Amino acid sequence: MADVMPPNMLNERPRTPAGLLSNREKDRLIERGFLGLYRWYTARSQETRNWNPDRSFDWRSLNRNLPPEVITVLEGFFAVEQYAPDFTSNLVHLVRRSHGRSHFQLRWGSEEEKHADAWENAVLFSGQRSPQWVEEYKDRLKSQTWELPFPDAIHNLVYTVFQERATQLNYLNMMKIAQGRSDKPHLKGVSDPVLAKVAQTIAVDEAAHYNFFLEGVRMYLYYYPEQTLSAIRNVITQFSMPAAQLVPNWEHFFETVYRAGIYGPRDFQRDVMQVAFRNLGIESRKALEEGIRRTREVPDFDGGNFKTTAIWDTFDYGAVEGDVRRLHVKIQDYEKEIGFDAIDPTEFIENPEVPRTDSSAADD
Ligand SMILES: [Fe+2]
Ligand SMILES: [Fe+2]
Repeated sequence: MADVMPPNMLNERPRTPAGLLSNREKDRLIERGFLGLYRWYTARSQETRNWNPDRSFDWRSLNRNLPPEVITVLEGFFAVEQYAPDFTSNLVHLVRRSHGRSHFQLRWGSEEEKHADAWENAVLFSGQRSPQWVEEYKDRLKSQTWELPFPDAIHNLVYTVFQERATQLNYLNMMKIAQGRSDKPHLKGVSDPVLAKVAQTIAVDEAAHYNFFLEGVRMYLYYYPEQTLSAIRNVITQFSMPAAQLVPNWEHFFETVYRAGIYGPRDFQRDVMQVAFRNLGIESRKALEEGIRRTREVPDFDGGNFKTTAIWDTFDYGAVEGDVRRLHVKIQDYEKEIGFDAIDPTEFIENPEVPRTDSSAADD
């Protein structure tokens, strides 16, 4: 978000009022947060989620008689995940100047790549698609390139929060079907412990991804509330799953997913949007729209870094501050373990724009 201006315009750069954080300082704090979180994440990923798409599952025991609907869904899961190289290269490029974020995207990409390989194995070992078919399908998919859904980093960051949560939900519901727990008549009695384990394993990764991106959005929300809230609003008004425009027969896949009770518009509302909102201290979509509208009605101080107060009524900033603080404690604990605390510790710096409660204001 740092503003880069040509030297002849330096005098016109808005000055930061005394006592407030400059954008450069905010960007530095967010970058430090990402870097610390990325280090913590990588260590944890290697310790707890170091599975292998070939060796971690007993593929020979995969159920050979899965209903055709399940195969259609597995095929679609594979189709989306196999764009992992496109997702990764585009995102890495977008955030290449941030150590924490670009390195994280590589790690993330290596996890998404495992998802693609695991779903491909599931399609192959189902016995219902020939290796030739899979090869041709892959060729067809790879003839198209996935592009970023938004041009800038903050919108893409917000998008990934919703996308990771939606993906996790899809896989958890697939796990439920494979465990024979579906309430849909055409899927009752399906039993496949191998498939259930695959879906669960990948869903755990997606939950970890969701958390990483969520922590990132929280930091932006804390230091740049206005831009972040409007990015959230823009993302939810046009949300669709990644690669929906690239996968052949997407409509058929989406219909099958919906009929299987795996995912649909209501699940997005209830189990994706509302969950993410709760995690970001936003009460509802209505409250978000209202808050943004009110903020725009209040005139901004020309050229200054002043923030209108209306933005702070749009979300529970106290809860978000608590979450950002807790993230820093987690990072600091990790840094103590390694020894970074003695060399270059990550510190939490309060955003002075955040309104303080009456009791703290009385002390001034
Ligand atoms: Fe994935
Ligand atoms: Fe993911």
